[in-house]
Amino acid sequence: MEIAKTIKEVRRFIGAARLRIRRIGFVPTMGALHKGHVSLIEASAKNRDFVVVSIFVNPTQFGPGEDFNKYPRPIDADIKICKENNANLVFVPTPKEIYGSENLTWVNVERITDALCGQFRPGHFRGVTTVCAKLFNIVQPDVAYFGQKDAQQAIVIRRMVADLNMPLQIVVCPTVREQDGLAMSSRNQYLTPQQRKDATCIYRALQKCRYMVEAGSRDSKEICAEMRKILNEPRSIDEIQYVILVNAETLLPVEKAAGIILAAVAVKMGTTRLIDNILLDVGRS
Ligand code: PAJ
Repeated sequence: MEIAKTIKEVRRFIGAARLRIRRIGFVPTMGALHKGHVSLIEASAKNRDFVVVSIFVNPTQFGPGEDFNKYPRPIDADIKICKENNANLVFVPTPKEIYGSENLTWVNVERITDALCGQFRPGHFRGVTTVCAKLFNIVQPDVAYFGQKDAQQAIVIRRMVADLNMPLQIVVCPTVREQDGLAMSSRNQYLTPQQRKDATCIYRALQKCRYMVEAGSRDSKEICAEMRKILNEPRSIDEIQYVILVNAETLLPVEKAAGIILAAVAVKMGTTRLIDNILLDVGRS
């Protein structure tokens, strides 16, 4: 496995891999790798890609007062995980390498970035799409792997790729969870033991939604109210930012569940923000 710190090095390694006519698979990450990230690396390796992983805590997707400075950066452990999971190249750039001394060009996907997390993190998706566009241009992958855990991010990236005619395929992999259902996240390590215990209510609320839909409920208000009850139980949930059922493609709220919907939740426990979601195929009834 190779490690590249500069764009020039990435281009050299990938140029050589291309000669061997292998597909380039790309897994963009911010590091502090866990089994969720590993599932993306595995998906790429399984497809016999030349697997490129980027580890870059992207400053432009963090708002003022967010956790950019304290975001975990266990780089040695991350590189070991990449190696153990058969990545071929790890790209670990500095902010200067990605943004130069001044960056004047930004990629902004409209409308679908306004809802859900966009409402609570202004400018976040502009940072995500800009860095992904840059990384796609640097790595020039045939396929890039994203997690369902960040459902809105995956939808926004798909849209950017379609709208800008970027020549790559986006694959979205299922959310990897802890045994008790909590979605794996680099941010889970911020949680105190009590918060960690209470955080399981997020998945329980999503499961409640699933059970209600399976039992025939379709009314979004009624379902979200039941989900909120579960989220309101533990004392460590300090704020419920959203509990919502949206159309899985448009991200527009649904009143009556139909077709493929996303049930999505965002909460804050102290200063830690946690998000999760499930996809449900409700059918037409
Ligand atoms: P990061 O939070 O490190 O996540 C990198 C990728 O791992 C994303 O596609 C995310 O959806 C996926 N992922 C995270 N937790 C997961 C889980 N429990 N199961 C499955 N996949 C999971 O998302 C980002 O970084 C950044 O916004 C990035 C795309 C790298 C741009 O900076």
